[in-house]
Formats: sequence, structure tokens, C-alpha cells
Amino acid sequence: MCGIIGYVGDKEIVPLLLKGLQCLEYRGYDSAGIAIHEGHHLNVIKTIGKIAKLEEVLKIKKATNGTNGHSNCGIGHTRWATHGEPSNINAHPHFDTEEKIAVVHNGIIRNYQEVKDKLINLGIKFVTQTDTEVIVQLISENLKKTKSILDAILKAVKELEGSYAIAILFKDEPDKIYAVRKEAPLVIGIGNDENFVASDIPTLSQFVDKVIRLNDNEITVVAKNAVEFYDLNGGRIKKEPQIVTKTKDILDKKGFKHYLAKEINEQAEVISNLLKDFLPNPEKPVQLNHLKLEPDFIKSIDRILILACGTAYHAGLTAKYVIENLTSIPTEVQFASEFLSANSLLTKRSLVIGISQSGETADTITAIKKAVLTGATLLGITNRADSALADLAKEHLILSKAGVEISVAATKTFTAQIAVLYLFAVYTAEILGTADKTSLIKIKQELRELPQLIDQALVRAERYQEQVIKYADKPDFVFIGRGINYPIALEAALKLKELSYIHASGYASGEMKHGPIAVLDPNVPVVSIVVSGETYERVIQNSLEAKSRKAPMIAVAIDGDKKAESIFDTVLHIPQVSEIISPFLTVIPLQFLAYYIAEELGRDIDQPRNLAKSVTVE
Ligand code: AGP
Repeated sequence: MCGIIGYVGDKEIVPLLLKGLQCLEYRGYDSAGIAIHEGHHLNVIKTIGKIAKLEEVLKIKKATNGTNGHSNCGIGHTRWATHGEPSNINAHPHFDTEEKIAVVHNGIIRNYQEVKDKLINLGIKFVTQTDTEVIVQLISENLKKTKSILDAILKAVKELEGSYAIAILFKDEPDKIYAVRKEAPLVIGIGNDENFVASDIPTLSQFVDKVIRLNDNEITVVAKNAVEFYDLNGGRIKKEPQIVTKTKDILDKKGFKHYLAKEINEQAEVISNLLKDFLPNPEKPVQLNHLKLEPDFIKSIDRILILACGTAYHAGLTAKYVIENLTSIPTEVQFASEFLSANSLLTKRSLVIGISQSGETADTITAIKKAVLTGATLLGITNRADSALADLAKEHLILSKAGVEISVAATKTFTAQIAVLYLFAVYTAEILGTADKTSLIKIKQELRELPQLIDQALVRAERYQEQVIKYADKPDFVFIGRGINYPIALEAALKLKELSYIHASGYASGEMKHGPIAVLDPNVPVVSIVVSGETYERVIQNSLEAKSRKAPMIAVAIDGDKKAESIFDTVLHIPQVSEIISPFLTVIPLQFLAYYIAEELGRDIDQPRNLAKSVTVE
């Protein structure tokens, strides 16, 4: 959470910092600000609200001569509040008392109260409720005892506990950005006569094609024509740039009203690209040979533990059915935040699968670090090659290759995650010989047909919209499914909550009668996932029980399902598909349901309230 951008060079700085912040807005958007060297002082402009609000404030300031924007060096920040409510005062950058140092920070200073008390005892007055202010005041205090800026920073970070990516401007060093990181991402962008600092590579790739990733406990001094790196003892480190593809404008909505709609509509293409790479020919084995998992290890796996949060957790739950079905390896899925290594039963023969779109989720990273201490092997699945998870899982990593997902609610990255997990299940079953060849070929053929089927569902968007918006006034929704579509019920409820702020729950449909049925009345729509196959009749039965309680009834059902049409008030049809492959399709009308209801209610679709896309605090 929180995005950081910094620039040193000759270009007009304010538009450049704003563009960077727009690219980073997914990381948090309750307030934003910039600090620039202007003449002989540091100018900080910040505001509660989104980047668009900051843009307005900057225009007004320019018009009233509050800033002339002439500067060669500046930093910017977009915030997701942890300590202190979103407000003008708590927005970053933060100053020290003398306004000689300005700091932006992503992360949490765990011992901030202790450090703050110490500084208050020294007579320092704090003006914000943030943990970040202790960083800048501490550096300022250290600077009184040393002439070296580097030393003052090094001394400060040694005292700070927690996670941080920090960028700092000093009034007395007009052409330099200092930056340091621990357990929060920070990357340096290398240009010609200009250099950048940012929280992620996609943002930098808008400006440069060379980047250097800062590692934990490294500090950098970024000037226009030079970038230096140091360790925490002040020793110089040599780091080589890596080349990244300069991406087209990641902020382009490609004609869609929202990023969410664009991303939902990209799902066929995303799956098609994954299949091209990993399953070019359904008659041949799945191509995941880049994983350095030895066949002997795969044959010895005693259990799989999947660790993830939110939507990624739902992808894990979906995969459990496929993995157990095809490989017979006992598979458990846990919320990363609930993982306790002592209770995990993991051994050296276990495989831990960490799933995270961002690869940065603190709960997931912490749980994985604990899990691998048992000697278990880690397989990472992430959409971000430049992430902490990708680093941890270097040897056994599958990239979900869904492209940048800007909307905070995950859609295309969910289908990409399940695609990767299905492919992994088939790959493992092929090595183990646990499933018969014909059924594996059938699944592979069906996977190959998916892009077409997904397209056939996507073109029904308008019809789905007509069908669902009449339910937008309902205060509560219940989603039910069984077996492999139970996780899809959970995912649909999460999507509706995130996007529309309507309360929603997902249940295994058989559980309804054990309690949740009490909430049903004509104001609580029940959305049932009824796909032909093993679970069909029982989901229908559970749906009839709900119907008897006068709940408005919605179904996701296969084309031509007359029975569903006779029972449900609204049927969201999907193309013919087998039960095992169905999650790829059942989720689509449910993503649209959440989207259109949220739109009908005038919600902030791409940046729902209180959320951030990468949750880097536990
Ligand atoms: C998804 O719509 C959510 N925004 C959220 O649940 C997300 O899936 C979760 O925070 C995990 O994120 P990750 O995949 O980046 O680890």
C-alpha cells in the first residue's frame, strides 16, 4: 500500500510526478502529495483525496504563485492510511520541524511510538498522527550530530523496526533523492540525464527501459547522472541495471468506461496466452519444465498447502478440487493470515504453493517464510516478476502473465491463477500417472477451448447487465454453489462486496439449511451456481429451499437449462462446459453482476472505498 515516485532530471517535474502517481494509484488513494526542490526551499503540496484532487490543488497553487513547478528534483506519494486518518495533515510528504527534509514512506514503522516518545522527550513537536513523521524527525535529529546525510539516514533506519520504502529530499542537497528499503518494494529507473525512483516496475517502464531493484537494507542516492548504492554500514555496493520492456500506456482504458470492464474483457486473451506458453498441444504434456521440481520430489510429495489471501485464496480453493481429483495429493488451502507453522504438518516432502497477484501481500509473504522453515518446497504463483514472492520462489515460479491489473478488484488475475493451477495439476498428474491418459487429454482439450468459450460469455455483458441491475436495491445477497463452484460463490460474494458495498455471503449450498437460511426473505437474493454434473441436483434442491423462503432467485446455468429457467427468476446463461472446467465460465456473469450493480449504485468501480490493491501490511 502507498505508492512512491521520485524524479531527478530536466523535464517538467510536476506533470511527471503526477503521471507516476496515477500509475501507482492502485496502491492507495486516500490522499496524495509531492515535495519538490524549488529555489532554496522544499515545497510540499498535499491533499486528502485522489491524484485528480492533487492535480486541482497544484493548478490552483500555480495560479496563485504557491508553486512555480520549476524544479529538477522531487518525490510524490499516494497513500493508504494505516496510522492516522486520511487528511491533509496526514498526507505525505512529511517535513521535519525545520522543513529541511521531506519524506515519503510506504510500510509501517512498528516501533514508532517508542521512537516518537524519545523524540518528544527531546522537545520535538509532532504535527501528524502518522508513523512516518518519526522517520523524518529522527533523521533530522541525527543530522544535528553528523554532517553526513548518509550517516544520518543509516543511523535512523537502524533504529526503526518494521517495513519501509522511503524516499527523502534534503533542502541542502537540491539535486538528489535518497531512498532506502526494507520489506517494501522500491526500484530505481535509469534514464539518459534523468533517473527515477518508484514502487513498481510498470510505472518506471512508462519512462525508462533500465531499472535497478533495491534490495532490503540497501540505500541509494539518486542524482541526474549517477546512482550510488550503499549497505547499512555505508559500504558501496555495485548493482547492474536490468532491461525492462518499455510498456505502452498502462493507464489506457482501451475505450472501456472502467479498468474493471477492460480487465474482465481481457480474460479470453489472458488464458489464450497462458495456454500458448504452457499447453501448446493438448496431445503433449503440459510444459512447465522451467520449474526445477525433480520428478522424484513430485513423486514423494506428501501434502500440498496453498497459502493466499482474498481472491487468490479462492483460486487456491478452486485448485484444491482439481489437484486432489487428478493427483490424489492431499491439498489444504489456508488464509495466509491464519497460517500457524506449528499446526501445519508440513515436512520436507511437502509442497507449499503461495499465490499472490501482487506478490507483495504481507500476510502471504510472512506465512510463506514461516512455512518454508519446515523444509517444505515453495512454488510461487504471481502476476509480478518483480515481486517479493517471485524472489522467494525463484526456483519454482509460475508467472500468471495476466498483464497489469489496475482495478483494485481482481478479475483477470483470478482466471489466470486458476488456469496456472489447473495446468500445474495436469502437469503433476502426468508425472505421477495418477489420472488416466484419456481424461487428461480431455481436460487439456477443454482448457484449449476456453478462450473461445470465455469470449462467448463476455459478449453477453449487456444481457447480463439488463438482467441484474433490477437487484441493485437489495441490501444483502447470498451466493451458493457446491464442489468446485463453491469457491466461485465465495469469489462472487467478495466481488459484490468490494465493488458495490452491498453485504454478501458465499456458502456451500448444502450449508444453507444449517443456519444461513434464517437470513432469507424477499429482500435477499440468492444466486445459485447450477452447472450440470455431480452437484447439479443438490444445488437445485438447496435453491428450492431458498425459493420457499421467498428469496428472489438468480442462477448461473448452462445454455438451454430448462429446469433452471423454470425455477429461477433470472438465469445468467453461460456456454456449455464440463463441471470441472466450469469455474472459468461461472465466474464471468458474477463478475459482471458485481460490476453492473456497483455501477448502478454509482460506486467508485476501480478504486472502491477503503481498499488498496496490494496489501503490504499484516
Ligand atoms: C481481490 O479482488 C481483492 N482486492 C483482494 O482480495 C486480493 O485478492 C487479496 O488482497 C490478495 O492480493 P494478492 O493476490 O495480491 O496477494
